[in-house]
Amino acid sequence: MNPELSPRLAFRDGVQVLPEGPVTQVRHAMAAFRLRGVPPALRAALHRLVGERVACDPELDRLCARLSPLVTSFLVDAQERPVLSVERLTRTATFAPAPLAAGTRVRLSRFAMSRLHQGELVLESPLSMVRLRWHSDEGWRFMAGLSAGRAASGLSDAFLHAAGLLELDTGSGFREPDVLRQWEFHDLLFHSRSRLGRHGEPFGATYPFRGEIPPRPAVKGPPAGPVVELPAPDLDAVSERDPAFTDVLEQRHSIREYGQRPLRADQVAEFLYRVARVRSLSAAEGLPYQASSRPYPSGGACYDLELYPLVERCDGLAPGIYHYDPLGHRLTGVEAGPADLARILGDARSAAGLARSPDVMFVITSRFQRLSWKYRGLAYAATLKNVGVLYQTMYLVATAMGLAPCALGSGDSDLSARVLGLDPLEESAVGEFMLGSRPS
Ligand SMILES: Cc1cc2nc3c(=O)[nH]c(=O)nc-3n(C[C@H](O)[C@H](O)[C@H](O)COP(=O)(O)O)c2cc1C
Repeated sequence: MNPELSPRLAFRDGVQVLPEGPVTQVRHAMAAFRLRGVPPALRAALHRLVGERVACDPELDRLCARLSPLVTSFLVDAQERPVLSVERLTRTATFAPAPLAAGTRVRLSRFAMSRLHQGELVLESPLSMVRLRWHSDEGWRFMAGLSAGRAASGLSDAFLHAAGLLELDTGSGFREPDVLRQWEFHDLLFHSRSRLGRHGEPFGATYPFRGEIPPRPAVKGPPAGPVVELPAPDLDAVSERDPAFTDVLEQRHSIREYGQRPLRADQVAEFLYRVARVRSLSAAEGLPYQASSRPYPSGGACYDLELYPLVERCDGLAPGIYHYDPLGHRLTGVEAGPADLARILGDARSAAGLARSPDVMFVITSRFQRLSWKYRGLAYAATLKNVGVLYQTMYLVATAMGLAPCALGSGDSDLSARVLGLDPLEESAVGEFMLGSRPS
């Protein structure tokens, strides 16, 4: 990298500097500061930071450290052309590059990622709250040696390191701290981007597609296929015979063995009715989409989850794959070969260490766009939380009914999407739950 690089600072786009008597206000949608007693020369430098890249001096550096979220750091070449820039992503982001000791070896962090952001290639890491941009191809070439590790060189590496993109070898090899070693790249990225605080992206119920793409319906239309009407249980009779709530909670546990006698169709019907039926459809007040009410809760009352019972052994229900219509409380047979059913159940057996398949396994899919139509940043995290509350509802109802429940943590979403005839970008499996008769 060109050794003649110099650091520069500038305010990010949209910053205003407003002198007001003894107070200087530095304002932006992201953060606002009121500074007292700024000497005239420093105040002039603050004005220049709007739209100009300014050379640093210790006094301006100190002030800019206070204004950190509003400042973009640059490295420029001898002709004042920007080589790289670092933008802060949050109000709490700091960026303080310091020279790396001579002889330090550096390597690209396994959490570094490059992606297209607003049409530009950027580098980010869930370990930092800044975004780095190379302004020339030379920068990307400079990155090439970093996968294997090399001696640190100059200000560019100091900037990459302060941006959380490098690992250092301080003498005993490249070694991440134990807490970091136990994070996978995708988990840390997902965690940092699906909560507030570590990014500046639009977040929450922002309805990004309102007026552009219609919302998905509250209830998925059942697929074409043979329909099996399910009996609705009498809830008064159910509450007469149910154990007390505390007994259900205290007795709930996972059971991975099944009784001699198979599960019955009326038990499957009661289980589905008590867990997942639509209690009512509502044009909920103030919501620009149709919501529904069901026994388990769901973020935004969106109810993105669908249930597909895979029946292996059930009195009154033919083995096969079904879709549950929670509004009509009925099943529709999905055309699939016995080998497909066997493969999905085989995965479930190995996930739970079972010698024998459960009587019924529910593949739980999400209709992802139901949530992403409304939410930015947290849609998929909300799906997984919805799976959690559905699991618990299934556990509790199964326990109350004296059945054998067990949740599963993994399944092959691609396989089930293929078997169920789904476009995996639109709907695919996010959970699996096994149910059977209880051994006596
Ligand atoms: C999200 C989640 C994933 C799970 N995944 C599996 C699994 O893949 N295999 C399995 O045998 N049990 C699985 N279980 C069941 C747990 O092992 C079980 O809940 C835990 O050991 C506590 O035991 P208990 O349910 O009997 O109280 C899972 C449970 C949950 C909530």
